[in-house]
Amino acid sequence: MLQFPKSFFWGAATSSYQVEGDNVNSDWWEWEKRIALKGPCQKACRHYDLYREDFDLAKQLNHNSHRLSIEWSRLEPEEGRFLAKELEHYKLVIDALKERNIEPIVTLHHFTNPLWFAKIGGWQNKNAHKYFLRYAEKIIELLCENVRFWVTINEPMVYAYHAYILGAWPPQEKSFLKAQAVVDNLALSHIKAYSLIHGIYKKRNLPKPFVSIAKNMQLFEPCKRTLKNNLAVYLRDKTFNFNFLDKLTKHKTLDFIGINYYTRSLVDVKKWYFKNLFLDCCKENHSQLEKNSLGWDIYPEGLYSLLLRLKRYNLPIFILENGICTEDDTLRWAFIYRHLKSLYLAIREGVNILGYIYWSLIDNFEWDKGFSQRFGLIEVDYNTYNRRIRESAMCFAQVCKTGMLNHSCSN
Ligand code: FCB
Repeated sequence: MLQFPKSFFWGAATSSYQVEGDNVNSDWWEWEKRIALKGPCQKACRHYDLYREDFDLAKQLNHNSHRLSIEWSRLEPEEGRFLAKELEHYKLVIDALKERNIEPIVTLHHFTNPLWFAKIGGWQNKNAHKYFLRYAEKIIELLCENVRFWVTINEPMVYAYHAYILGAWPPQEKSFLKAQAVVDNLALSHIKAYSLIHGIYKKRNLPKPFVSIAKNMQLFEPCKRTLKNNLAVYLRDKTFNFNFLDKLTKHKTLDFIGINYYTRSLVDVKKWYFKNLFLDCCKENHSQLEKNSLGWDIYPEGLYSLLLRLKRYNLPIFILENGICTEDDTLRWAFIYRHLKSLYLAIREGVNILGYIYWSLIDNFEWDKGFSQRFGLIEVDYNTYNRRIRESAMCFAQVCKTGMLNHSCSN
């Protein structure tokens, strides 16, 4: 039996666009229509209407924290025009969590943008931070009495990679230079938002908030130990995993380190070109590891080793996403169990971990993959919008309740 710290945060995450439905003023909405995406977002999980019921379920599952995001395009559907009705909505959402004694962890940007912002260049616009801060200020002023944990940007590198290098997400660019500009603007926006948030709490005499980003980390490993592969592993680990964190810690703008961890990445570089060094992955299935339904390796050992490497920042760490898409719910519990065990071992090695947030509370819209991937602790029926608690959620609920990890789960 493994015992976690008493004060540990346990919970699950969602993001606005993936669960709310009808975010008609966002760049993703317009893009899905334009490319005729299979399985478009539409009503998503109708969480915009059903959030109280969903939070009841989280409470029933003993969660003491919940991560969610604010949809910028709802609050500010046209440049400079903020909708009182939508501000009120998010106030009620946070109230609903507080009423249930669930600690809110609020993300300001989770991949989607207002369409008007995208049209003026989005995160490539050199004034992007100004637009972002104006929106951020509105929502922080509104929620600061009830929110202690803020996540400014979700997965900046993943966003830049999919939207500006791979061309898989809007605006479908394929340019390292543009991606770099976007990453720089995201970093600048975080740095400025950090001061903004702390300033507001100070002005209002509120206890200090905890501000961070959600940093996706992957363990990069070579397929075969060749010079090309070793160099590529070094470069990707540095640029994808650490550069952004290094920059923010240098500016002293992280109160904790938010980590999203899913998998490792096997590197197999074909040619000595810049592009290949950064993009080539192992195509042949060298790995014997079990996989999620998207084919990602299940590799909890990677979380352990990354956590130990994060010790050098001397900041508390919060796991803000970790999860599996699968039709096999036994595999889901095994996944959670093994990752929690990695966390436990890291804590024993002196890593300061604040909590663990599973992705996701409910099945939801998995971006360009549509609704086929089932990440939820809770199953969503997309015809009726009924929710059904999965067995794995019950096993996790035991851990949330007792702070004790036990593999055999008698539910
Ligand atoms: C993360 C995203 C989240 C979700 C999971 C599966 O990269 O932050 O929105 O899509 O992956």
